[in-house]
Amino acid sequence: MVQIKALAAAAVILCPVLAESMYMKSSPVLQIDHKNYDKLIAKSNYTSIVEFYAPWCGHCKNLKPAYEKAAKNLAGLAQVAAVNCDDEDNKPLCGQMGVQGFPTLKVVRPGKKRPVVEDYQGARSAKAIVDAVVEKIPNHVKRVGDKDLDGFLEEKTAKAILFTEKGTTSALLRALAIDFLGSVQFAQIRNKEKKAVDKFGVEKFPTLVLLPGGDKEALVYDGELKKDPMVEFISQVAAPNPNPATAKPDSKKAKTKDSKEAKKEKADKKEDKEPTGKVFAGKLTRISPDKKPAPETEAQKPMEVKEEKPLIGVLEAEGHLTGACLTTKSHNCILTFVPAKTGEELTGDAKTALDSLTDVLKKHKKGGHRTFPSFQVPADNKASAKLRKDLGLKDDKVEIVVTNAKKGWWKHYTKDEFSAKSVEDWIDSVRMGEGKKEKLPKDVVVEAIKIEEDAGKPKVVRKSSTAEVVVEEEPKKEKAKEDPDHDEL
Ligand SMILES: *[C@@H]1O[C@H](CO)[C@@H](O)[C@H](O)[C@H]1NC(C)=O
Repeated sequence: MVQIKALAAAAVILCPVLAESMYMKSSPVLQIDHKNYDKLIAKSNYTSIVEFYAPWCGHCKNLKPAYEKAAKNLAGLAQVAAVNCDDEDNKPLCGQMGVQGFPTLKVVRPGKKRPVVEDYQGARSAKAIVDAVVEKIPNHVKRVGDKDLDGFLEEKTAKAILFTEKGTTSALLRALAIDFLGSVQFAQIRNKEKKAVDKFGVEKFPTLVLLPGGDKEALVYDGELKKDPMVEFISQVAAPNPNPATAKPDSKKAKTKDSKEAKKEKADKKEDKEPTGKVFAGKLTRISPDKKPAPETEAQKPMEVKEEKPLIGVLEAEGHLTGACLTTKSHNCILTFVPAKTGEELTGDAKTALDSLTDVLKKHKKGGHRTFPSFQVPADNKASAKLRKDLGLKDDKVEIVVTNAKKGWWKHYTKDEFSAKSVEDWIDSVRMGEGKKEKLPKDVVVEAIKIEEDAGKPKVVRKSSTAEVVVEEEPKKEKAKEDPDHDEL
């Protein structure tokens, strides 16, 4: 009783259960400790600001509202984290980081060999923190001009090009490039580069053009310039790198309905939110219908999934399965093996499983989240029996797996029941990078088919960008406001 009174008097934290940490579970501040510091901060491709604090420290408490505001505004752009140095287990970490007083703020960003750590000594306001951190977001975006355009286009990788009037690179574009580091090369071309602008028929600025690679037609994004739908758009050509740091607390937040804030956040982030803008508009026109389905088209199968089509495709032929999910270029794929043959009506577990999965995908899509390409594998697909055997799955049961052939792993849904909740929890955990990874047997994965590059003449399917929001190239707070995860500053 005395203790509770003392706490109340000190106006520390109203919820005694959480008295240890200064931040609520639902806080946008990423709470880290000695165990996950390395994984979430030191090894991240993102820049982070880390607050080392003690819950009893007055300046720490004073900083809290501004720090949380900064966290909201930097969501998707950089990580805002906190370590409780009052926790015995964290003390060695705080010591190593040279923390001598509270709060100590450090900006940590990826370096060549090890992360670069710098003290933050600016003003303790949300705006000052946001500005300082935005400035340190790594820039993997190439500036390309008419002179080096051809050379750039010759590179075989998938590319995302922002045509813009600005000379600086926005925090949003830099953050997107980090999400797709290693799989999509980002570039920025100014409106002054006549040859490039003409080549792609760009009429408005900014315009984001996606080149899937090979002779695939270019895609033009005409949704809002916000991170989530843009990630989803670009995910057509490559899966973004999983980000354990932002994903994990989100999932916990979403599951913890213990505060207003968490609920609101859940509503915002998950199911209830109307999709913002014409998110998929650029997606629908990429493969000319009269083109023969060459093997490379199969390899790109996941990208063909159109909005009107069912969310879960059916892989009838062996080659489709391989092409869609099992080449050295295939990213995450959700495969549901069913006992039924092609065209047969699904019953029992198979029906439940696919209904559940469809619900989950719909939900994600509606919330503007990216979804993994998802397929049903009927029993008469020649590759089905073999793959089941290779993965050690029963041959007559419904089985759901997520494969990532590029990285050589797969994950297994091991429950016997396929309720929407169980399936959703599992998919969420996979999205967060959780769950046991099994190794894909070597001969299951095939070398991705090389595609003849016709980079000299990219075909632009859609020319206009109807985006009305102008990308703020200067990393200012207004920029941050445009992000869907942000509240107003
Ligand atoms: C960081 O980027 C590399 C590519 O350079 C990628 O392979 C890796 O998965 C990324 N790491 C994280 C944690 O996203």
